[in-house]
Amino acid sequence: MSGSAKRSITITLDGTNKSSTLPVLSGSIGPEVADIRRIYADLGIFTYDPGYGATAACESKITYIDGDAGVLLYRGYPIEQLAEHSSFLEVCYLLMNGELPTPAQLREYEMGILRHTMLHEQIRQFYNGFRRDAHPMAVMCGVVGALSAFYHDSLDINNPEHRRISAFRLIAKMPTIAAWAHKYNTGQPFMYPQNRLGYAENFLYMFNAVPAEEYKVNPILARAMDLIMILHADHEQNASTSTVRLSGSTGANPFACIAAGIASLWGPAHGGANEAVLKMLADIGHVRNIPEFLSEVKDKGSHTKLMGFGHRVYKNYDPRAKIIQKACHDVLGELGIKGDPLLDLALELEKIALNDKYFVDRKLYPNVDFYSGIILKAMGFPTSMFTALFAVSRTVGWISQWAEMIEDPEQRIGRPRQIYTGPTQREYLPPGQRG
Ligand code: CMC
Repeated sequence: MSGSAKRSITITLDGTNKSSTLPVLSGSIGPEVADIRRIYADLGIFTYDPGYGATAACESKITYIDGDAGVLLYRGYPIEQLAEHSSFLEVCYLLMNGELPTPAQLREYEMGILRHTMLHEQIRQFYNGFRRDAHPMAVMCGVVGALSAFYHDSLDINNPEHRRISAFRLIAKMPTIAAWAHKYNTGQPFMYPQNRLGYAENFLYMFNAVPAEEYKVNPILARAMDLIMILHADHEQNASTSTVRLSGSTGANPFACIAAGIASLWGPAHGGANEAVLKMLADIGHVRNIPEFLSEVKDKGSHTKLMGFGHRVYKNYDPRAKIIQKACHDVLGELGIKGDPLLDLALELEKIALNDKYFVDRKLYPNVDFYSGIILKAMGFPTSMFTALFAVSRTVGWISQWAEMIEDPEQRIGRPRQIYTGPTQREYLPPGQRG
């Protein structure tokens, strides 16, 4: 642990003479952290933190969030600056390497990624095993996990060159895998990547083009796609990233770990929220139904959530939501879509919720998913593709965090403990003697 201990906490276990002194570590920014590793040896007790709301599970130099201030930094750079000036592949370089690239480094990196965009031809056949109506996230979990059966030459996690090649392969192939999941759904031919195109552009090409016609990617959409990818590239120790780290801590190969991350992302409390927002807006249907819907959300018995609102870390506006809300207006404007009813409904819902005591008291603000679905819909994506696009964008974050973990000298297998409340030891009884 490179964070320095400037002070400590000493705790004493009531009714015993046992105490433990816990070093308090400081990172470069953010709350200090009590190092509790000695607590079991000193006091014989574990700590309890379901949902990890107060637990730092690792040291990281990649992404920083200040949830109260609504700040998100990739390697120290504010998301607003990267969204305005950078490109997705430059952000990928930054996340993987820690610094922004020189023009020559960026060119070499882009060529390195683009060289890996094709899939092993046998993977095409793999798709045929799925039902035609398979959800793209189900296909992504399966196909990404299966990559480990095709790329045996880069599976040694202790070899830095293998780690680098696997990272390149994952980032490069993800758009192809996602676009083909959609093509499989529609029954259209799979389109091979075109390495003369940029990363986001290539994805839009594989997603939209058909072999029978020329297809030119709309530059407005390509820029919007690139921006959406930047905004989703990494987000500190969220559920899917923690899943990737936990899977990786066992020594599992990177393709298997990213497949685990995709599965974790799929849930509606995480990446699946963008799809759920659109479903929610469709169910609400009209501005006049908002009060009734919000009453249902506030009724704890209903289990209905205002999807796209709230965040474990942000207790202020999610900075990504602000950027994407503006991009949403720009894209709809540039595409000539005036007065989109879904956007109007979302804006009204946001306005009402932000002035409602329930949401104000709980510091619930729109998160990135509140607007990403609307922009993706306007760009022509079916709702089932929304979370798959999130997975494409987040792959660089997952693989950067995975590599950081492998290189961390303090890395051990992740193995949480528990407070056991089940039966204590008892004797097995033959069936006739039970009950
Ligand atoms: N609608 C209604 N009430 C909510 C919502 C919501 N969206 N989010 C939180 N609350 C309430 C929650 O019921 C609790 O109320 P009370 O104190 O009365 O019990 C209070 O706010 C605190 O919430 P919490 O459940 O302790 O918050 P959490 O940190 O465990 O959950 C969350 C965070 C993102 C899972 C949750 O806010 C949520 O389910 N939001 C909707 C799904 C969503 O938009 N997810 C995307 C997150 S951002 C992108 C990503 O991570 O992929």
